[in-house]
Amino acid sequence: MPEKVVVIGAGPCGLAQLQAFARAKEKGADIPEVVCYEKQDEWGGLWNYNWRVGLDAYGEANHGSMYRYLWSNGPKECLEFADYGFEEHFGKPIPSFPPRAVLADYILGRAKQSGVRKWIKFATVVRDVSFDKSTKKFSVVTETLGDHIRHEETCDYVVVASGHFSVPNIPSFEGIETFSGRVMHAHDFREAREFTGRHVLIVGGSYSAEDIGLQIMKYGAASVTTCFRTQAMGFKWPKNMDERELLTRINQKTVHFKDGSKKDFDAIILCTGYQHHFPFLRDDLKLRTHNRLYPPKLYKGVAWRDCPQLFYLGMQDQFYTFSMFDLQAWYARDVILGRIQIPDAKTMDADIAEWVAREEKLADPEQQIDFQADYLRDIIPQVDYPKFDVDSTVDSFKRWEHDKVDNILEYRNKAFPSSLTGTMAPVHHTPWWKEMDDSLECFLKN
Ligand SMILES: Cc1cc2nc3c(=O)[nH]c(=O)nc-3n(C[C@H](O)[C@H](O)[C@H](O)COP(=O)(O)OP(=O)(O)OC[C@H]3O[C@@H](n4cnc5c(N)ncnc54)[C@H](O)[C@@H]3O)c2cc1C
Ligand SMILES: NC(=O)c1ccc[n+]([C@@H]2O[C@H](COP(=O)([O-])OP(=O)(O)OC[C@H]3O[C@@H](n4cnc5c(N)ncnc54)[C@H](OP(=O)(O)O)[C@@H]3O)[C@@H](O)[C@H]2O)c1
Repeated sequence: MPEKVVVIGAGPCGLAQLQAFARAKEKGADIPEVVCYEKQDEWGGLWNYNWRVGLDAYGEANHGSMYRYLWSNGPKECLEFADYGFEEHFGKPIPSFPPRAVLADYILGRAKQSGVRKWIKFATVVRDVSFDKSTKKFSVVTETLGDHIRHEETCDYVVVASGHFSVPNIPSFEGIETFSGRVMHAHDFREAREFTGRHVLIVGGSYSAEDIGLQIMKYGAASVTTCFRTQAMGFKWPKNMDERELLTRINQKTVHFKDGSKKDFDAIILCTGYQHHFPFLRDDLKLRTHNRLYPPKLYKGVAWRDCPQLFYLGMQDQFYTFSMFDLQAWYARDVILGRIQIPDAKTMDADIAEWVAREEKLADPEQQIDFQADYLRDIIPQVDYPKFDVDSTVDSFKRWEHDKVDNILEYRNKAFPSSLTGTMAPVHHTPWWKEMDDSLECFLKN
């Protein structure tokens, strides 16, 4: 039995890891000492809403990328924990697209119930992780924020659950330094009403571009133009919102686009994604990837190929979130407990290569959904995570994709069945486009 496991981060992935150990213990298993370091004062990761931008209260890079009025962008039935359903948490069925506070309440509800908080050391940042090949132990250096006291310890396993949507990718564009309005990245976006009456340019063609663009329209922007590098989102946008090819240059208020058009703006929001960034890991342990469905060098999407005592959770681009994080955490736990054997490097390489080759051929969102569902199906038989209906989540995801194409303003008004109980969700009392109150109290008033 290994002596000690260090988990880095107490967001949904770190909490999933703690949950996996708690469940094993409940069933009578011997588990090693588990310690989770979290640099923020509270748990929940991105779901621990943070009004700050730039630096946090300790002078560390602010982790939060979530904004006010954020609602789930996928059906909750596709992310439900299989060991703790929404109905169990809220005591009744709730609609399919909850706002941020409701999802946070659910994630933390499970963690409170299983009593894992005692394993977390808050306001403690992991500064350095190295691996000694001769002793087969990690050395982990942490620093308690506030008093800046450093501490070094050794452990047998490390689980990296530090997220990958917190360090912004910030490209530059010709003339951007002459722009006379505000330029910001989505990471620093908090309050849509800042843009009421403004003409806003959004750069990017993915979820943040779509959601932040729509949200600021909802809260009264004069106009929103999104512009894409590779592929248009192609939705039927509301009045005063349009989509163009990428900008080419900026001259004060005026932005020029690849299609030859130009327009004046008051603000630019760069929704240009995030970097996988692990400054606390030595080079031989560091995952280097862009945001993709199967980052190479992770066996079963989790175990670091060059040192399988190191695990990464949630590093994939995500259709599935919480249930996938759980499966990954259960898998890592079972390797640690000696229930799953990691094969030799050649076998790992062949398995990784097969997944990566398949990922590179994916042509559309439906195929991407099938791919990530198959990844889940690969893990499921290897662990004792409670059963849930994966086929039903695939159907829901595909319906959701079509709903978005049909009407981007109305997809959040649809209802989906639970993959645990089959119960159909009720419909929220107010259509999302008209619902300005994103509080938990208002949402649960159904
Ligand atoms: C704007 C936005 C909206 C989203 N909306 C949804 C949604 O509606 N539904 C959904 O399912 N998913 C959504 N996601 C996806 C989101 O990635 C996951 O829901 C989830 O938060 C990922 O969990 P995580 O634990 O991997 O990372 P995070 O939630 O980022 O948590 C990582 C934790 O690690 C800590 N940490 C980092 N570095 C260190 C260190 N060196 N030492 C100690 N602690 C450290 C951080 O403080 C943080 O608490 C959204 C993401 C973004 C950016
Ligand atoms: N309400 C919600 O629930 C909500 C809201 C927002 C975000 N999210 C979540 O947040 C996560 C991150 O989403 P994201 O949209 O921020 O990141 P993302 O999905 O990684 O997309 C990044 C986008 O930036 C573009 N980009 C990168 N570099 C660029 C450049 N130099 N010039 C122009 N465009 C560039 C990319 O274009 P290319 O395609 O050309 O690379 C892509 O469109 C997702 O998991 C999403 O689900 C959820």
